[in-house]
Amino acid sequence: MDTVTLIIDEKEVKAKREATILEAALEAGIYIPTLCYYPDLIPFGACRLCIVDIEGMRGFPPACTTPATEGMVVHTNTPKLQELRRNIMELILSEHPYSCLTCPKNLNCELQRVARYIGLEKVTLPYTYKELPVNRENPFFDRDYNLCILCGRCVRVCQEVRKVGAISFTYRGSETLIGTAFNQPLQEVSCEFCGACIDACPTGALMERANKWEGLPDREVVTTCPYCGVGCQLKLGVKDERIISS
Ligand code: SF4
Ligand code: SF4
Ligand code: SF4
Ligand code: FES
Repeated sequence: MDTVTLIIDEKEVKAKREATILEAALEAGIYIPTLCYYPDLIPFGACRLCIVDIEGMRGFPPACTTPATEGMVVHTNTPKLQELRRNIMELILSEHPYSCLTCPKNLNCELQRVARYIGLEKVTLPYTYKELPVNRENPFFDRDYNLCILCGRCVRVCQEVRKVGAISFTYRGSETLIGTAFNQPLQEVSCEFCGACIDACPTGALMERANKWEGLPDREVVTTCPYCGVGCQLKLGVKDERIISS
């Protein structure tokens, strides 16, 4: 059999045998909050926001790294899980500037959306600000690692999808940052400025400089890229009859 049947939040769900609980839930239209998960990337299990409660299993495993198995009974949104997620989000936000109103990602930010869903009312933990200068040492991107939550999506999309590996985790422990070898500018490592890391980032840490203050597009238009013979489909964001994102 290529499928398994499990119960998620009282709903019978069929999933591919190799699917994770998160993939099974998403396929069935059941939302589980995530931040380090990104489609097509190998599960990372870093943020722990996708924890679930599985009957007969100790602890709260992450849905994004736990395989869905036959007969499993999963709860995704119990009061205990809600409390744990609020604690996890509080830890994340205790190292994240309270600067949504002046952030170029405001209203288009995955971290903001997930924090709102989790319903954290205030951060009581001591606040830590990294005080890093915004890195503009390349022609196209602004990299503000004060806003980085170390989800690793940029690093993994660069390695696993783009097969480039221009960026990685640097330093260790509380000093950990995303960066390049020997802190070189992106144009001096193997970066192709494809923008995949920008698209993958769930915060305002990585932004295209040219359009970072343009706000949200009025509409989206699907078109065909004329650059090479492959003809990939592109989704363009249009505002005031100008292309502001792709
Ligand atoms: S990255 Fe998102 S949550 Fe953080 S300041 Fe910007 S808009 Fe707010
Ligand atoms: S722009 Fe592309 S190549 Fe450069 S770091 Fe980002 S994903 Fe890697
Ligand atoms: S720069 Fe963005 S994508 Fe990369 S680790 Fe930080 S928050 Fe995640
Ligand atoms: S989305 Fe599962 S641990 Fe981050």
